[in-house]
Amino acid sequence: MNNNDIQIPPSGVRGLKNDLFLKALKGETVQRPPVWMMRQAGRYLPEFRELRDKYDFFTRCETPELAAEITVQPIHRIAPDAAILFSDILVVPRAMGIHVELKDNLGPIIPNPIRSLADVHKVYVPDVNETLGYVFDAVKLTKEMLNDEVPLIGFAGSPWTIFCYAVEGKGSKSFDTAKGFCFSNPAAAHTLLQKITDTTILYLKEKVKSGVNAVQIFDSWGGMLSPVDYQEFSWKYINQIVDALADITPVIVFGKGCWFALGEMGKSRASALGVDWTCSARNARYLSGGNITLQGNFDPSRLLSPIPTIKKMVHQMIDEFGKDKYIVNLGHGILPNIPVDHAKAFIDAVKEYGN
Ligand code: CP3
Repeated sequence: MNNNDIQIPPSGVRGLKNDLFLKALKGETVQRPPVWMMRQAGRYLPEFRELRDKYDFFTRCETPELAAEITVQPIHRIAPDAAILFSDILVVPRAMGIHVELKDNLGPIIPNPIRSLADVHKVYVPDVNETLGYVFDAVKLTKEMLNDEVPLIGFAGSPWTIFCYAVEGKGSKSFDTAKGFCFSNPAAAHTLLQKITDTTILYLKEKVKSGVNAVQIFDSWGGMLSPVDYQEFSWKYINQIVDALADITPVIVFGKGCWFALGEMGKSRASALGVDWTCSARNARYLSGGNITLQGNFDPSRLLSPIPTIKKMVHQMIDEFGKDKYIVNLGHGILPNIPVDHAKAFIDAVKEYGN
């Protein structure tokens, strides 16, 4: 290992004013669990919608000042215990030569999806500093703006989830085309998955060098695969990323609908595992081996309940997971129609726990 492999973030972990999140990732005892929300920098916030009306999606991602400003919006408004960099999982395939558009109400569109080995050969592992430098600049700027108040999370999509969009060409309920490509042309599929994995490792390492305090891998579409196929087409690649990052930063793996893989994940070098709301706390603890930190799993639609109900359910959820080795979160991203005071009540309920 040379000196370049060990990177001390510009503002060291020890300097953080609120380190509850990092303590939970290390499995240390805490007064109360930390809380943040997936997609907390998003459309339920009026100040986000204002910027969205002025700048298109990838402009927001590619302009460090905008990305940093959007990242800190929820910190000021609802005060979670961690910030997550505003960006998107799709900046990675864009950097690999795959053209991605984001259409209002349609979600991501890839006009020329990958459907053959020849298509796979056109995709490359890029120089991440050249193609994704704007993300690293956004990390540095956000760290300055956060002023060590809370840690900053960096993220990437899992190779399988990126592959789903790259091959399907758009969002889908079942991703049959992406699955069909794996089953009919496994060699080409594995070549593409490996290129995405190699790029993601370079990308996340550079994010850590730029100052993020932890990383999360979003496997949003892992639950589309059977347990056996999940091992071959998703977990195998996520695990390479976990192994490549574990020495330099805590890694959280969130697989939506992937409760069946918690056993394998619990044996990996990940620091925490995300759980969605279809898996009970008890089952998640049992399946993951009982020792690893878990994160989740409030049903995002449950934030439409009256505030007293939200608070009661959050306290029950903490009782069920236990306050230690636990990070309070939703079971997937916050929905755009959630009232801000309900989002705030979710965060406040955690801070009031045990009072
Ligand atoms: O958590 C945060 O606040 C950070 C921001 C963040 C975004 N995307 C911003 C975004 C994160 C962590 C993501 C990850 C992401 N992006 C995932 C994995 C998490 C998940 O929700 O499953 C996925 C699958 C994507 C791909 C993607 N990006 C989709 C399917 C869409 C359109 C659907 C939608 O939710 O609108 C996007 C666009 C997107 N990414 C928006 C935001 C705030 C909304 C569009 C906009 O702001 O104009």
